[in-house]
Amino acid sequence: MAGGKFTITAALPYANGPLHLGHIAGVYLPADIFARFLRLNGDDVVFICGSDEHGAAITLRAKKEGITPQEIVDKYYSIISKSFELFNISFDIFHRTSDELHHKTAQEFFLKLYNSNKFIEETTEQYFDTEYNQFLADRYITGTCPKCNYESAYGDQCEKCGSDLSPLDLINPISTLSANSPVLRSTSHWYLPMDRHESWLKEYIQQGILNGVQHHNPKLWRNQVTGQCMSWINGGLKPRAMTRDLDWGVKVPLSNADGKVLYVWLDAPIGYISATKAWAEANNKDWKDYWVKDHAENRKLVHFIGKDNIVFHAIIFPILLKDHGDYILPDNVPASEFLNLEGDKFSTSRNWAVWLHEYLETYPDKEDELKYVLTSIAPESKDSEFTWKEFQARINNELADVLGNFVNRTLVLTHKYYQGEVPHKSNLIEEDLQLMSEISKFPNKISEFLYAYKFREAQAEVMNLARIGNKYLADQEPWKIVKTDPQRVQTVINLSIQITANLSLLLLPFLPKSAKKLQQMLNIELNDWTVGGSSEIIADGTQINQPEILFAKIEDSLVEFEVNKLKSTDIQAMMYEAQKETVSFDEFSKMDIRLGTIISAQKVEKADKLLQLTVDTGLDQRTIVSGIAENYSPEEVIGKTVAVLLNLAPRKIRGIESQGMILMAENESGELSFMSPEKAFSAGGGIR
Ligand code: MF3
Ligand code: ZN
Repeated sequence: MAGGKFTITAALPYANGPLHLGHIAGVYLPADIFARFLRLNGDDVVFICGSDEHGAAITLRAKKEGITPQEIVDKYYSIISKSFELFNISFDIFHRTSDELHHKTAQEFFLKLYNSNKFIEETTEQYFDTEYNQFLADRYITGTCPKCNYESAYGDQCEKCGSDLSPLDLINPISTLSANSPVLRSTSHWYLPMDRHESWLKEYIQQGILNGVQHHNPKLWRNQVTGQCMSWINGGLKPRAMTRDLDWGVKVPLSNADGKVLYVWLDAPIGYISATKAWAEANNKDWKDYWVKDHAENRKLVHFIGKDNIVFHAIIFPILLKDHGDYILPDNVPASEFLNLEGDKFSTSRNWAVWLHEYLETYPDKEDELKYVLTSIAPESKDSEFTWKEFQARINNELADVLGNFVNRTLVLTHKYYQGEVPHKSNLIEEDLQLMSEISKFPNKISEFLYAYKFREAQAEVMNLARIGNKYLADQEPWKIVKTDPQRVQTVINLSIQITANLSLLLLPFLPKSAKKLQQMLNIELNDWTVGGSSEIIADGTQINQPEILFAKIEDSLVEFEVNKLKSTDIQAMMYEAQKETVSFDEFSKMDIRLGTIISAQKVEKADKLLQLTVDTGLDQRTIVSGIAENYSPEEVIGKTVAVLLNLAPRKIRGIESQGMILMAENESGELSFMSPEKAFSAGGGIR
């Protein structure tokens, strides 16, 4: 498979905030593993990223922080690019969409489409904020989603149900700038008639066929990507405006377009092209080899993104690229699902997050440990969860006990028996031959997973090689026969070192720093994937260096510290939160809150926080699952009379239907307490 050509992009992060582990696990780490692997494999690769510096995400953040959009993007560009560097993400370039080269590239792109009549100009009535003198599109306007009734849907999308919206669809629209109800005014924009593209898109996405040519392997597209695209297309694509009435962004390059800029989702993906141009210029390359059809033959364009970006990369950008005419189209769009954190969604506003730059500051020598854990739990095909407990368990039980232990035992024995000189193997027995045959299969197994965008499985295979090594040592027990059969021990140690050396190569895409460290210990340099699998990868007589511990164990205190930090910032965020919107008395009285007595309680299996309760409500006895297990044991809650919200819609928690909610008080360290009546009232009493 070597000799492939890849243009790899990772979603341009908005320069409006730092990166958290969800971004890393879903997008940047898998993209980096892929790029590193391809380079080792001898493929021709360019790995592109940069910051997305336009759009309402930026201007609204600027308003919130009380500084200019330029100051915002400068601030976060520097935080983001520095943390990528410290985390050793191997972009060939990290560009910015505020760069002049990008503005020029995006404008040329727009003009090409404009001149070939790919847009439709239309004048329509749009919402306008008279206080701010501004039209309201996208995130500038919120309201109730007509599809699911979620009250904070944006003008372009409902984040609750995922529907694609336009501001005119919103019920009770409100300006995010002034909180006023907007008025309608007319304005004209250039629309991309996406509806004209449905039929070729269907074929392209489902069968990989474009212009009658097999363009990619549709089997390699993740189900959720194909599924989401098809549901959009089957729901009917609508024309989408490619321009906005704003002053922050890439100016529309037409004479009659004062005060108009390109839609950020037109400008940002073109950023991949501009970044390639900037990189090529600096490195004496021709950017066209990476993007332009006739130059970039057989080149694969791969976009790593999160699932909220699917439509932009798998529908809108392909339409734009095809309309433009010069460019190749994406070969794959490996979108990830979401990563959750300690039982909840990552949330910037509540500071429920682990920030990459903070992690790297606190644990500057543990970047590979984090990479390992994030790849192990990567949300490739479904949402997944990061917990500090699992972070500890994976590092201690897998990195330290399996990988680190194998490497350490092997190197220590080599020094003990042979003063660090790799011994010669001879008289190979069945077990040795079998082991060698196993070893030889790993590089291919791993590359197959990687070419199929299965990073979790690929990394797990590397660990399997270390497991095989541990088993081989345990079975052969060289320490028992070192006196009686020295020749056999030479063979066993030689083969164990061959495994170690193979590990130091196969780990490079995943844990580059540790892999290099291991190579230094072994006194070898391996950079070529194709030499992997050999049992002659390190020569007899090589003098190896003293072993060092590759992965230190994680103490319980670290877990405790991090979990407490999360909880306390969470509650602090709540304490500083402004009072919520006013509710009417009618709305309040819809909530049926009564006293209930807990009559039985048990732990929910594999859920540290949950208790399953049976509660006597005066009306009935019902099951309620409550997140109080860290504060109350089952024994101590039985008999307590507490406040219960009875008419909360039932929901399944860990397979158990919970019919209501116990109301709890919370203090600044996240501790929970029941709300019990001060007098001895009994179950069924109302709370008003
Ligand atoms: N900034 C966008 C986000 O964070 C991603 C942009 S990807 C690009 O969701 F293709 F538009 F650059
Ligand atoms: Zn909705």
